[in-house]
Amino acid sequence: MFKIIVFVSGRGSNFKAIYSQIEAGIIKAEILGVVSNNKSCKAIDFAKEKKIKTYLLGDKSQGNEFWDFDQLAKIFQKENIDLIVLAGFLKKISEAFVNKFKQKIINIHPALLPSFGGKGMYGSHVHKAVFEAACKVSGATIHFVDEVYDNGIIIAQEAVDISDVASPEEIAEKVLKIEHNLLPKVVKKFVENKIIIIKNRVIVI
Ligand code: GRF
Repeated sequence: MFKIIVFVSGRGSNFKAIYSQIEAGIIKAEILGVVSNNKSCKAIDFAKEKKIKTYLLGDKSQGNEFWDFDQLAKIFQKENIDLIVLAGFLKKISEAFVNKFKQKIINIHPALLPSFGGKGMYGSHVHKAVFEAACKVSGATIHFVDEVYDNGIIIAQEAVDISDVASPEEIAEKVLKIEHNLLPKVVKKFVENKIIIIKNRVIVI
């Protein structure tokens, strides 16, 4: 079975979107674990409710329940993890970890990269910047993760018309709907081996 790990920091609605398609048999994969830097977030509560193994990201000096990137990498390599999905994960992934899972880590970003990405560009900050720039479209981007924030090659994007919005919150709402559709779709493509990289471009077949 295709093995997935999901990294989360908050609400977990994208994680739930993947989970529900696995549960429905649409995505033939299993989520082996959920990693979070945030002990008390909705995403972790959901993982526990579904009896998925959870890992708290931190340092062993903080307690035995914490795991750092090196320890997690060892576990995930041993388990032969196929795909790591950052679904609303706010911490930077260590360079060593990224190098161990080359082209196996993907992230969802709530804007059309390469605009409105980079350090500090997360959650409501993104939608506020898009609103202030008076953009007429926004959207979601799924990209491979490298050692630089929001920089890896783009796998998939979907745009949404935001010409009629009156607030950043309205943009967030529109984009989130797209995310919940796009992320499971891309995960399914990975499971079905339909993601091909040719000369630094990703072809989704
Ligand atoms: C999403 O908008 C995602 O694109 C961004 O953080 C948000 C997480 O939402 N990286 P959720 O935790 O999946 O509900």
